[in-house]
Amino acid sequence: MASEHKFRLGILGSGKGSNFVAIAGACASGEIPAGVALVLSDVEGSGILTHARERNLPARFISPGKFRTKLDEDAERAFVGALQEARVDLIVLAGFMRVLKGEFLRAFEGRIVNIHPSLLPSFPGLAAWQQALDHGVKVTGCTVHFVDAGVDAGPIIGQQTVPVRDHDTPDSLIQRIHTAEHELYPKCVAAIARGEISVQGRRVVWKKN
Ligand code: GAR
Repeated sequence: MASEHKFRLGILGSGKGSNFVAIAGACASGEIPAGVALVLSDVEGSGILTHARERNLPARFISPGKFRTKLDEDAERAFVGALQEARVDLIVLAGFMRVLKGEFLRAFEGRIVNIHPSLLPSFPGLAAWQQALDHGVKVTGCTVHFVDAGVDAGPIIGQQTVPVRDHDTPDSLIQRIHTAEHELYPKCVAAIARGEISVQGRRVVWKKN
């Protein structure tokens, strides 16, 4: 649980919440020296909210407003307000399927991270595993990166590779990518919480590497 002095995470998601489960578990076990201060979703009844409530963590649905791929102005204000009120140190996007814009990025500059199911800069955007299958690559993976104004474009914190097998289906490949995500994301968040990484232009440097 988050205590006064602990590094505080705000986690945003729209879907099943399996990355949230991995991160919350790593916080509970001490692998990540942080607490989950707040979980927010733009999807009422999403798995991530259910998982958070099962763990007695503060969790809220906030309506995203009138747009399909981003938050409208009122929604942006509500998300930013809730995260500021919860005094979060880092915002962790865990399957949050809306692009964050101006006010949100300004409020938490350099303090938002995302996970994407490909080896960026290959296959940004939607259904990255399907893009990998369509392209016929033999290796794909997942990427944790800082969020900037581009789509899936900020400085890369960590990547983990996954083989693409000849007879993979979208389901078999995404499952393998998910397994890699659940290993990589907690490691990256732990390093940030410990103050072990710094950003030098496009490069993220791990002090222990
Ligand atoms: C994850 O595979 C994550 O990489 C992807 O959504 C999934 C969420 O799963 N995110 C994106 O595609 C963002 N561009 P989860 O809800 O089970 O954590």
